[in-house]
Amino acid sequence: MSDQTTITFATLNLPQEGVAVVLADEGPKLAPAAKELDKASKGLLSRAATISGFKGKKDTTVDLLAPAGLKFGRLVLMGTGKTADYTAEDWLNLGGTVRGLLTGKEGPNAHIVLDGGGKGIAPEDVANFALGASLRGYTFKKYKSSKTPKKNSATENDKTLKKIVIHTADPRAATKLYGGKRAIANGVTLARDLVNEPANVLGPAEFAQRAKALTKVGVDVTVLAPKALQRLGMNALLAVGQGSVRPSHVVVMQWKGAGAKGGDPIVFVGKGVTFDTGGISIKPAAGMEDMKGDMAGAACVVGLMHELAERKAKVNAVGIIGLVENMPSGTAQRPGDIVAAMSGTTIEVLNTDAEGRMVLADCLWYAQERFKPKAVINLATLTGAVMVALGKEHAGLFSNNNELAAWLTDAGYATGEKLWRLPLGPKYDKMIDSKVADIKNTGGRWGGSISAAQFLQRFIKEGTPWAHLDIAGTAMASVDSEINRSWGSGFGVRLLDQLVRDHYEKH
Ligand code: BES
Ligand code: MN
Ligand code: ZN
Repeated sequence: MSDQTTITFATLNLPQEGVAVVLADEGPKLAPAAKELDKASKGLLSRAATISGFKGKKDTTVDLLAPAGLKFGRLVLMGTGKTADYTAEDWLNLGGTVRGLLTGKEGPNAHIVLDGGGKGIAPEDVANFALGASLRGYTFKKYKSSKTPKKNSATENDKTLKKIVIHTADPRAATKLYGGKRAIANGVTLARDLVNEPANVLGPAEFAQRAKALTKVGVDVTVLAPKALQRLGMNALLAVGQGSVRPSHVVVMQWKGAGAKGGDPIVFVGKGVTFDTGGISIKPAAGMEDMKGDMAGAACVVGLMHELAERKAKVNAVGIIGLVENMPSGTAQRPGDIVAAMSGTTIEVLNTDAEGRMVLADCLWYAQERFKPKAVINLATLTGAVMVALGKEHAGLFSNNNELAAWLTDAGYATGEKLWRLPLGPKYDKMIDSKVADIKNTGGRWGGSISAAQFLQRFIKEGTPWAHLDIAGTAMASVDSEINRSWGSGFGVRLLDQLVRDHYEKH
């Protein structure tokens, strides 16, 4: 669920109520508002700073309750380190850190003062801070039966934080910039919600319905049911879903924000395996619950399309997601089966747990047949091997186009959703040659992420700029960060928003 706390911007005059957060650079060098409050409290803040040995270092605080001489319930002096060196990601993370300190115990309103530095803090940085705060406020409490705090007595306070007011030199500029950021926050929230949802609730049909809801923000959404998929010849995708009682779906989302003049679209393709048991090549029981997140690629594409539409991005973009459930059953595909994908390429299914590439094969082909994409970018929780290679810090990037790869890498560092490029090449491609069909769906023990990427590339036409992001390590079972404490991270929405802004949008 999105943060129930609203974020607004106001001038640097702050009312004395609730909790106040003020900044100090390394030194400590107190920002103007911090100095002022220090004076008003007759040096309380600087005394406390000295006693605690506070030097204004990043992620350190002086945290005072009921400060004498002030009407605040709580006053926090937040150490920032050297803000002069801050990147956009640093401001985002600072917003997350500060949001993490706020509880609502001190009253419904929190005031954060972003002042100081040489020329003051730029509105763009203020907006990024607010985005970080908003993302950190995300929780997934849908299935907690005690969602609303019980009110046992009339005297008990409702101790939830209602409003965060960010005080800044130029609240109007910050408010305007935050409009676009709020769209990002909503897109990330949507992606996280989808990833966190359990698979009993979110099967292929239910996921398709959630995507269909994007019509509300102006996206043109078509849901393709099994009959249509059969007609199209998406046999590889259908083979993965054939063991499940829940029918497979493909959803096509179109956002035409650049109109006819904008030309051909950029197409985003997402793996949406709503649960991956492995099929007949069944996975071990330990940790299998994580496979409810095997649709994180599709979740990102839906979150991104929502985001682009909400902020009315001047881009023509298409989202295509392949939604299936990979189950073992009497109707499931078997190891050794051979299926013909939509492209005509025949696939020998050596391992039914290598299902994501079969789903993507048909979606990628469909993307190129139906649209003439400027570029195709797919996202998938494709291989465990990518975590062996890169851990959870970077997602794997594979591409047939150096420019696109560089743009994506840069967008990764700008947003903190980092990518690391891994190789493709003819020798790797040989790994998936099959004796009986055109290709096989696994490439042996070594370089598992690469042979999976080579498999995908067999479905990319000559001349289509293409990138594949293996997000198995970054989209789910997420490590705690300053801007996310939930299981699903929503990885990719911010990254691809940045890519679109920098390279595909008409300004
Ligand atoms: N969905 C998994 C990959 C995965 C593993 C994602 C762990 C997130 C966390 C994928 O479908 C899969 O099972 N891949 C196999 C491929 C193998 C059978 C060639 C893998 O990585 O082991
Ligand atoms: Mn699998
Ligand atoms: Zn999978």
